[in-house]
Amino acid sequence: MKVVSRFDKLVKDADGQAQWLFAILQSVHDGVLVIDDCEVVRLVNPEYTRITGVKENEIIGKRLRDVRPNALLPETLKDGKVRTGVYRKEGSNEYVVDMAPIVVHGQVIGAVSVCKGLTEVHKLTQELKRNKERLNELKRTVYSIYRATYTFAHIIGHNDKIKEMIRIAKRAAESDLPVLIMGESGTGKELFAQAIHQEGPRAEHPFVPVNCAAIPAALLESELFGYVEGSFTHAKKGGKIGLFELADGGTIFLDEIGDLPYDLQAKLLRVLQEKTIRKVGDTHERRIDVRIIAATNKDLRQLVAKQYFREDLFYRLHVITLHLPPLRERKEDIPLLAHSIIQASGGGGQRPVCSISQAAMALLQSYDWPGNIRELKNVIDYAICMTDGMEIDLHHLPPSIMKDPEVFRSSTSIQPLRKMLEETEKRLIVEALRQFGTDVQGKKQAAKELGVSLATLYNKLKKLGISEDLPSSAPNG
Ligand SMILES: Nc1ncnc2c1ncn2[C@@H]1O[C@H](COP(=O)(O)OP(=O)(O)O)[C@@H](O)[C@H]1O
Ligand SMILES: [Mg+2]
Repeated sequence: MKVVSRFDKLVKDADGQAQWLFAILQSVHDGVLVIDDCEVVRLVNPEYTRITGVKENEIIGKRLRDVRPNALLPETLKDGKVRTGVYRKEGSNEYVVDMAPIVVHGQVIGAVSVCKGLTEVHKLTQELKRNKERLNELKRTVYSIYRATYTFAHIIGHNDKIKEMIRIAKRAAESDLPVLIMGESGTGKELFAQAIHQEGPRAEHPFVPVNCAAIPAALLESELFGYVEGSFTHAKKGGKIGLFELADGGTIFLDEIGDLPYDLQAKLLRVLQEKTIRKVGDTHERRIDVRIIAATNKDLRQLVAKQYFREDLFYRLHVITLHLPPLRERKEDIPLLAHSIIQASGGGGQRPVCSISQAAMALLQSYDWPGNIRELKNVIDYAICMTDGMEIDLHHLPPSIMKDPEVFRSSTSIQPLRKMLEETEKRLIVEALRQFGTDVQGKKQAAKELGVSLATLYNKLKKLGISEDLPSSAPNG
């Protein structure tokens, strides 16, 4: 059965149609004024009054020219031309007017002017300006929080491999291509990522690091891409901005990319290909401009072979790849690194420490450094804390790196026999005291184990300058 609407009933006769059009004119948000072909005003709607300040009873039935001598609408009536965007100002009312003839059966029977108030446009413009200022302020805040601090000047190393990596990284900084940085933990992956960001055109924009392994998989998507209001229970009002959006204009550093869940890998691929993101629960995509630098200490190729990592994403990321060597493969850089770490820690209210004894350096160079430069840094910081002289010596180093006796056979540690013996004596006494304690009972036990009398032990402690505040445990790496 056909439903007859109120609309159908009304517009079926001419009178009804007029009523219908009149009702529309009453409710539109533009001011409307109509004159007939004798220039007499036949209609104004409430919006016209609101915008121009001219009341209906002041104008209806009168010749427009008589009421408003500057009106242009009679011209339109005469020449039949459309006029748009004519600016008008009446007192404090500002508006723009579009004018057109009304043509029926090829004859001009009147003219209509449609006006839009500018006061509102001004207000909106002001609001837009304020919002833009706030947005810029927020962007500055984001930048102050997510800011890279390291540059290439902070990367230390004379080793050929590391020099080659610095050369490639500098090239990468000039481009906007994705960079993949591989290397064991503590080899400087984040340091390189920051330097690449700082050297490139995005330096004045945020550098946002994300550890993909540290964020629970269930949260990672909304952390990375954000969500819209009401997308799930407990979703925050107003939604949430994701890290990709925070990084807009800058760089996102995806650390431990090998731990990115498989379904999110597809989303990341989309970001790389389309340069768009979609928030959780959102119906549309948003454009973003973010450079991606990813890092991993895993063998990504192997993860691809085992189908833990998407091959297409791997090849997308594998454009510029840096392989950072472990510290044990660039031991020649250890003295340089150690001295720079000492120098950097000098300002922090510590006593100035100027040097490292030959034996201590030999030990540092003989150790394998599974935690790489991060571990070296911890060891040096520990030693600085333990020393009270001007020199870091063997017994200031944490026991965790003492295990390797290689140092005493190493050709780099050749030195006068007496000094060598002293160092060894010192090391053994320190180890024994660590084991048994520095109280009298501990010393007695240590002397017994070392095969000397208690008096000899006391003499040696004095002669070798061994402090009794012995470090007892290693810092964690
Ligand atoms: N070549 C280097 N020169 C100086 N410091 C370095 C170098 N490589 C790493 N470091 C320092 O070692 C620590 C670990 O570096 P980081 O970039 O966090 O390693 P990763 O991200 O590979 O675990 C940081 O304090 C960093 O400043
Ligand atoms: Mg790291």
